[in-house]
Amino acid sequence: MLFEQIAVGGCRSYLIGCEDSCAAVVIDPEVSQIDRYVALATRDGLRIRYVIDTHTHADHFSASHQLAQQVGAQVVMFRTSPAPLVDMRVDDGDMIVVGKLRLQVLHTPGHTRDSMCLVVEDRVFTGDALLIGGTGRTDLPSGDSEMLYDSLFNRILKLDPALKVYPAHEYKGRSHTTIGEELASNPRLQVADREAFVTLMGGLNMSMPTHITEALRTNMSGGKTVAQMLAEAAAQVPFISFVELKRNIDGGKNEMIILDVRERDAYVSGHIPGAHLLPRGQLELRVNEELPDPTKRIVTCCELGRISTLAAATLREMGFQRAVALDGGMKSWREIGNPITLGSEP
Ligand SMILES: [Fe+2]
Repeated sequence: MLFEQIAVGGCRSYLIGCEDSCAAVVIDPEVSQIDRYVALATRDGLRIRYVIDTHTHADHFSASHQLAQQVGAQVVMFRTSPAPLVDMRVDDGDMIVVGKLRLQVLHTPGHTRDSMCLVVEDRVFTGDALLIGGTGRTDLPSGDSEMLYDSLFNRILKLDPALKVYPAHEYKGRSHTTIGEELASNPRLQVADREAFVTLMGGLNMSMPTHITEALRTNMSGGKTVAQMLAEAAAQVPFISFVELKRNIDGGKNEMIILDVRERDAYVSGHIPGAHLLPRGQLELRVNEELPDPTKRIVTCCELGRISTLAAATLREMGFQRAVALDGGMKSWREIGNPITLGSEP
């Protein structure tokens, strides 16, 4: 078995490959690491066949759909997962066959209702059900402490004590542990009974993960994150530097249309000399009267350089093939001390 653990902050994902058939699987991929999974698989001569999410994540953005699309793999999740873009839904007791490897599915609800563990040879991938010296939390959507108690004490902890435990999260840099070690020393497991465990979990009072709304929205719908929308727009447009734009303004050639896509009050309180106002929200509707010549060079600008990127991508889509976005926003433009004009358009 070829095995690679990929750590990003507290998230852990895994690439497992069969040496004989060169088939591989990625478990719990994270959106910032897509190129890494593909690169590691390529380096080891592996073809990724399956991309598995052990559960619906609330604290990070799953890359399953995107990664699977890129490499032509199947997205695998538990039968009841709310995620819509799943190719193969599996049940408790099912086996996912990856070349000569057999991944045994163990339904272990509690952290979420759709949580599952995967047992492969000498190790178990526990998702967020069992962590090193901890357990997944049960206070997020579809979490349930009683269910987690059953999943832990009646299923996971009854596995071979020598099995290596690889969780989906680890915050202290440890790579893995074993079922036996967790049984002996995991503080959350040293409880007398179910009631004690439920009380313990209920008293944790953890803060909400950052991005929970966006993570649940995108992971449960297959929709895009804001960062993804911006990255896709940025990949479609060239940018122009402050220096180049200023050289143009100073040269007085007036070859570029500077399009300020902020709202009117922001524009009035200070804009790039010669800039025209066309708020992003009105762009499509007013483009015909404001920008009659699609061959003109257009530079979009906004406060932080993000909305202007979306605006330039929209303009390109509408046929303005020379639309570019300013690399940076008005905030930096002012801070550097570049010239600004106050008031409305003449
Ligand atoms: Fe989780």
